Amino acid sequence: MPTLALIATGGTIAGAAASATDTTGYTAGALGADALLAAVPQLAEIAQIRAEQLFKLDSKDMEPGHWLALGRRVQALLDDDAIDGIVITHGTDTLEETAAFLQLTLAGTKPVVLTAAMRPATALSADGPMNLYNAACVAAHPDSAGRGTLVSFGEAIFPALGLRKCQTHRLDAFAGTSAGAIGRHDPVRYFAPAADAPARTFAAPADAAALPRVDVLYVGAGTPPDLVDLVVANGARGIVLALPGNGSLPAAWESPVAAAVAQGIPVIRASRAGMGAIGRKALDARLGTHPTGELPASQARVALMLALAGGDATTLARLLADGYIP
Ligand code: SIN
Repeated sequence: MPTLALIATGGTIAGAAASATDTTGYTAGALGADALLAAVPQLAEIAQIRAEQLFKLDSKDMEPGHWLALGRRVQALLDDDAIDGIVITHGTDTLEETAAFLQLTLAGTKPVVLTAAMRPATALSADGPMNLYNAACVAAHPDSAGRGTLVSFGEAIFPALGLRKCQTHRLDAFAGTSAGAIGRHDPVRYFAPAADAPARTFAAPADAAALPRVDVLYVGAGTPPDLVDLVVANGARGIVLALPGNGSLPAAWESPVAAAVAQGIPVIRASRAGMGAIGRKALDARLGTHPTGELPASQARVALMLALAGGDATTLARLLADGYIP
């Protein structure tokens, strides 16, 4: 029987409300890892679980320091011969950022599987227990090795990069890249063999202060382009634009964006549409901007923070070439 580490960080999966019918007015991260395990005695049939409580956070309050602490802990478990796989419970709201950070910084081929829930643990038909069970099945499954950081949620298994939360209430709250999920549950089944184990892309810095500020600007009809100058003046070293449609930059933004690029501030074009990829356009050559590829704006920000922190021109260039995943 495999031995899995369970790292609890909070979220709705550990949320508690006063009433079983309350799915919005609850406290995220209220319950401990022991309560999550107690709700799923069936876990004992698939693995030995070593549980630990790292944080008790509502994931909206996650910060780069939490990513670094979690990454260090997961890397230690990846390097521990007694552990076969790692499950992380997390809030859904910033799951995509944490997943991207882990995927881009961890080294190892053992499964690292994040999961979460949309309904608090106290709700009627809470989705957390089954999500936790499924995530453990993924982490315990031999076919999960060498696939990098995974997210097991609802009926689907997603790779970390490209993940985005796309629903505020519905249980099928996540979507992935244009290619969609890479596997499903009951039993765990992948739609294609694992590619070669992804190598660590960026070395995580020791201190959160070394991760530079990168801002995402949401651009709507008539949004003032002076936001570019504002965030640069406030210390942003990179900018991700969540643009209308297919990463379409309003004409009024061209000059301030080109000026930021000329100052050495990388600018990535992403979309506010929520789903879909952004490819290279002629304007990228003209202004010096970069398409996000398959990464949502939230993950392009994390990748750019890491790339800028590392000061590694090759990985930065790869990130900016045509999007991290073209
Ligand atoms: C959170 O992200 O911690 C709260 C919301 C959720 O987990 O669905």
